[in-house]
Amino acid sequence: MKTEEILQVVKGRYDKAAEVSGAATGSCCCPSAAPASPGFAAQHGLYTPADLASVPKIAVNLSLGCGNPVSFAGLRSGEVVVDLGCGGGMDVILAARQVTSGGKAIGVDFAPHMIERAKQVVAEAGLAGSVEFVCSDLAQSHLPDESADVIISNCVINLCPDKAAVYREAFRILKPGGRLAISDIEYSENPAPEVKSRFEATWAGCVGGAMEEQAYFDLIGNAGFEEIRIVAQHPLGSSELEEMACCPGPEFTPRPENEDLAAVQGKVTSIKFTAVKPLSHQ
Ligand SMILES: C[S@@+](CC[C@H](N)C(=O)[O-])C[C@H]1O[C@@H](n2cnc3c(N)ncnc32)[C@H](O)[C@@H]1O
Repeated sequence: MKTEEILQVVKGRYDKAAEVSGAATGSCCCPSAAPASPGFAAQHGLYTPADLASVPKIAVNLSLGCGNPVSFAGLRSGEVVVDLGCGGGMDVILAARQVTSGGKAIGVDFAPHMIERAKQVVAEAGLAGSVEFVCSDLAQSHLPDESADVIISNCVINLCPDKAAVYREAFRILKPGGRLAISDIEYSENPAPEVKSRFEATWAGCVGGAMEEQAYFDLIGNAGFEEIRIVAQHPLGSSELEEMACCPGPEFTPRPENEDLAAVQGKVTSIKFTAVKPLSHQ
């Protein structure tokens, strides 16, 4: 698929998932309908029970991440944190609570219904005053130069067709000395080219656009980032792999063939890492 087509497919899938899985509370004749079950991140223990209990249910049920970047971002009071691909707002809420007193959290996502859900949960959490949202492609966030202290992202950049552009944009937005805290999906080892291209052909969930680790880190370094440090790595088990490959759900993303899933088993990894924008750069 070409870049524009991938963006449309991904946006359509996540927008639809948000639309059907949590009706906005705005209309008195259309009561809120929270998704029936917790999202991937909640089911797989990526958040503490206290985190899960402290955010509105729709945010928990729409959480589709593969990590918990707020847990290793080292956020401080007063910082500006940007969440790339904020989805239903789970990490925006957790981040906003850590940067309060002068700081703010900004969620960026290109799916309008995700932004709508995220605004709804942030208001429910009483954080509307310290959170902003931008509905935009991550490669062109429209945020000002050198305006953020920290950029977090949770299982999103694998979905982006032009990852180099996303990391260049992140570098532009960050203040000198600013940092990345990213959870994402990658290949620890490339599968056979024909298998990889079958995943790419449908941009199957969070596997179709995954890159091999070293190529991925080279791309981040080429954007200008330094001190790339792996915080944790976890090869996906078979049920995790299947869920990730169909994210945000098999009703939205075609399920890959069993033999293709078997061929990438053990080679798809959930990774958490940090990196820094140097204080001075060319
Ligand atoms: C797997 S979900 C993760 C959402 C959220 N980070 C979480 O942890 O629940 C991916 C999200 O990234 C958004 N997304 C994917 N590609 C994007 C792009 N190129 N620009 C903006 N948002 C994007 C989708 O709309 C979706 O909300």
